[in-house]
Amino acid sequence: MLDTHEEMRWWLGVVVWLALFGGENGSVVSPEDQGLRAGNWGPGPGLLESSDPATEPSPEDLNATDLMTKLGSAFDVQFMSVNEPPEGLQAIDTSQFSFRRKKNGRLVPMGPMPQYIREVELGVVKLADGSRLKTQVPVKLKRKLRQLLWALTACPVGFKWRDLGARFWPRWIREGLCPRSSCSVPAGMKCRPLAAQHKTLLRWHCRSPACQWIKVQYPVVVQCSCACSSRSPH
Ligand SMILES: *[C@@H]1O[C@H](CO)[C@@H](O)[C@H](O)[C@H]1NC(C)=O
Repeated sequence: MLDTHEEMRWWLGVVVWLALFGGENGSVVSPEDQGLRAGNWGPGPGLLESSDPATEPSPEDLNATDLMTKLGSAFDVQFMSVNEPPEGLQAIDTSQFSFRRKKNGRLVPMGPMPQYIREVELGVVKLADGSRLKTQVPVKLKRKLRQLLWALTACPVGFKWRDLGARFWPRWIREGLCPRSSCSVPAGMKCRPLAAQHKTLLRWHCRSPACQWIKVQYPVVVQCSCACSSRSPH
């Protein structure tokens, strides 16, 4: 059972979690933005409560049929797993990189060209007095340069399974990761989370005298983009 002190710590955890992750669309905050690195995020949000194993869900509390019914259509097979995923917790799925490699080794992007790539002026150098020096760039080379810039600044999201521990159901969730290296020339801009989806999970919630499953929202990064530290993309 939780004493008052532990209960206060639990509620503090909820408040911190809501402050970090409870924002409406558009104010999504990633753990990285809070100065936390993905590998360093601790055992999941709101886990400041007692870690007493005696308050963990028992096998009867983990009846998959019942919990699946409770979660209903919120269960997302792409992002959730009831059992430990066979690929393990270290494997990073990078299949979201939407470029294909041609026989000659060139990467050819698929999908619509981002506006910031379309707007790059490849044939002009601008000077301090406002004058513009033209430089000859053949049309074909311009196309290849745009495709190359597109690939170098792409920030494809990768996915990795995370074990949230015994107090979450489903216990394994797929999280999005952004590449860590710089995506700009000169270096400085970084790949940062651009969009997240909130997944509904069940959380084992203990308040004296009993524990029960409650629904909680868990943010999953699903898109990254090359951005300055202010978090505004481009
Ligand atoms: C899970 O619960 C259902 C009823 O809700 C029951 O029929 C089933 O036997 C339970 N399964 C286990 C493994 O206890």
